Amino acid sequence: MFDSGVGGLAVLIETHRLLPDEDILYYADSAYFPYGSRPPEQIRERAAAVTRILLDRGARLIVVACNTATSAAIAYLRETFDVPFVGMEPALKPAAERTLAGKVALLVTPQTARGQKLAALIDRYGAEVAVRTIAAPDLAERVEAGAIDDPATRALVRAYVAPVRASGADVLALGCTHYAFLRSMIEEEAGDGVLVIEPSAAVARQAVRVLDSLGPRERRASGGRVLYLTSGNDAAFAAVRARLEAAGAALPPGVAEVPRAEEG
Ligand code: DGL
Repeated sequence: MFDSGVGGLAVLIETHRLLPDEDILYYADSAYFPYGSRPPEQIRERAAAVTRILLDRGARLIVVACNTATSAAIAYLRETFDVPFVGMEPALKPAAERTLAGKVALLVTPQTARGQKLAALIDRYGAEVAVRTIAAPDLAERVEAGAIDDPATRALVRAYVAPVRASGADVLALGCTHYAFLRSMIEEEAGDGVLVIEPSAAVARQAVRVLDSLGPRERRASGGRVLYLTSGNDAAFAAVRARLEAAGAALPPGVAEVPRAEEG
């Protein structure tokens, strides 16, 4: 699976919980973070380059653990590579089902906000409910820096959820994997009347369904291994993971390397 950085780790945690015997490669494209401020062509290029790296290492299924990359690149990836992809999109369908006020809000990156995929999703599910899309240009950066419990991040979150409250929306869907790590803070700032929906667990369940459709799974008796890879700096990636863990994220321990001969 891959993301522009550490956001997809929320999906990794859920996937590893469901597939403890499966080897998982997690690729953080940190050298190109943030995807949310890049043009779609660049995101497609990066998504394809990362997919090649994962396929080279024996991946049988690719989880695009990033809303922005899914929005900009998943159609292209499916056309280009002969491997199943699981992507993510803002949880507008469950949000529309859960709202009592008939108003929902989505918190996304600027690129996801501009994308045609979101417009199509709003056309499909937003017919009966009012949808307020909030683009947050700088919130994923806070998580990418590991600053998930500091006052500056809280001030930003407060500013982004203010329009949710003002609009009267009673459901807020988190449409960027990085925001999963801010879930408690977002819930606190949104207040009791707002249900926050975060889709990592649903994406992990979908990954299991797709994997099972590929045939019987090989189970490693000693448990699946998780290999953390990055296009950025390994030590910096490890340091941010440590910060997320210190703040309570249950990240699976990583191995130094998965021997290539055993892959696939
Ligand atoms: N994690 C990415 C997502 O789910 C966004 C972060 C970025 O802007 O790169 O949309």
